[in-house]
Amino acid sequence: MSQAQPYFPGLDGVLAGETAISTIEGGLQYFGYAVRDLAEDASFEEVAYLLLHGNLPTEEQLADFEAVLIEASHVPAEVIDFMATIPLHVGEMDVLRTAVSALAHWDEDPTETSDITKAERLLGQIPILIAARYRQRQGFRVLRPQQDLSIAGNLLYLITGEEPSEFQEKAMNVSLILYAEHEFNASTFTARVVTSTKSDLYSAVVAAIAALKGPLHGGANEQVLRQLQQIDSLDEAENWFHQLMAKKGLLMGFGHRVYKEGDPRAVVLKDYCVRLAESSGNTRLEEIAECIERLARDKRGLYPNLDWPSARLYYYLGLDVDLYTPLFVASRVTGWCAHIIEQAAHNRLIRPRAKYIGKSDLTFEPLSERDQSE
Ligand code: SDX
Repeated sequence: MSQAQPYFPGLDGVLAGETAISTIEGGLQYFGYAVRDLAEDASFEEVAYLLLHGNLPTEEQLADFEAVLIEASHVPAEVIDFMATIPLHVGEMDVLRTAVSALAHWDEDPTETSDITKAERLLGQIPILIAARYRQRQGFRVLRPQQDLSIAGNLLYLITGEEPSEFQEKAMNVSLILYAEHEFNASTFTARVVTSTKSDLYSAVVAAIAALKGPLHGGANEQVLRQLQQIDSLDEAENWFHQLMAKKGLLMGFGHRVYKEGDPRAVVLKDYCVRLAESSGNTRLEEIAECIERLARDKRGLYPNLDWPSARLYYYLGLDVDLYTPLFVASRVTGWCAHIIEQAAHNRLIRPRAKYIGKSDLTFEPLSERDQSE
C-alpha cells in the first residue's frame, strides 16, 4: 500500500459499506420512511418490525410480532439470579453487557447469526434485564411484563411499578423510535465488524453495547443530566456555560459527527420534553436547557443531538439516570440486529489499513548488549 493513500481520522466522511436500512442524507429515513412520520404515527413495535423485516407490518403481521415479543420476553431465571449476585455498585450498562452475554449460554443455537427470531427474542428480553437489575438494586420485587402494554409502556411499568399515562407511554414510544437506528454510528459499525468475521449475533450485540456505553456516543445521555444538575438556577446557566467552554469541556448532548446544523431527531423529541416538563413540574429545567441551547448555538455554533432532549424526557418520566443509556440499548438493538443480518447476508471481512507513524529499520541488539539507560 502506498502511504500516499488518503487518510481520514476517525473514518470521518468515509463510506465504509453499503446499507438499505437507513439513510441520514436529506433527513433520516428507515427503509425509505421518514422518521418524523414514524415517530408521530407508528408504534415502536411497527418500527422494530420494519427494521428487522424491511417493510411495515400488516395488522396480522404486527399482532403475530407482538405475540412473539411477549413470548420472547421470558428471561432464564438463572440469568436474573446471576444479575442479583453482581455487586450493587456496578452500573446498569456494565451489567446489561454481561447479562446479554449470559443469555447466549441459554440459547440452544447461539452461533446462528442471520436469525430474525434471535433478534426478536433479544428485543423482548432486554427490557426485562434492564428493569430487573434496576429493581434488584433498589430492593424492589422484580415484575413481569403486562400483556396489554407496549414495549414503551412495559419499560415504564417494569421500572417504576406504575402503569404510565397515555402521554407518558407515547413520549417513551417516540424516544424508542428515534433511538432505533442511525446508519453506521460507532456501535452499529462495531456490530458489523464483529459480524464480518463470521462471529455470532450475541457477540456482535455485546460488542455494540460496549461501544454505545462511551460518553462520546450513547453514554452522553446520562452525562447530559449530570451536567444540567450542576446548574442550580437560570441565572447561573450562562456563567456555567462560559466556565465549561473556558476549560475546553464538552457540552454533552451537543455536536454530531454527521449533523452539523442540528439533529432533526432532537427537534421532534423537544416538543414532548416541553409538555412533560409542565406536567411534572420541571419547567425551570426546561428554561435552563433553553438557555444552554441558545448559548451553544450563538457562541459556539453547536446544536443539540438526540441525547440532549432524551435525557430530560427520561428525567421527567421519573427514571434514574443510570437507566438512560440502557434505554438506548433497548431501542438500538433493533438497528444493530438489522445491520448484523444485512452484513451476514452480504459479507466481506471488514479490515481497513493503518497509516504507519512508528520507527523503521532498527538494528536488533542482543539482550546482553542493550543499554538499559536508553
Ligand atoms: C450519538 O454517530 C451517530 O449517529 C451517533 C448517534 C446515534 O444515533 O447513534 O447520533 C448518537 O452518539 C450522539 C452524540 C452523543 N455525544 C455527545 O453528545 C458528546 C458531546 N459531543 C462531542 O463529543 C462531539 O460533538 C462528537 C463526538 C459527537 C462528534 O465529534 P467530532 O465529529 O469529532 O466533532 P468535531 O470534529 O465536529 O468537533 C469540531 C470542534 C472540536 O473542537 P477543536 O478540537 O476543533 O477545537 O468542535 C468541538 C470539538 O472539540 N466540539 C465540541 C462539542 N462537539 C464538538 N466542543 C464542546 N462540546 C461539544 N459537544
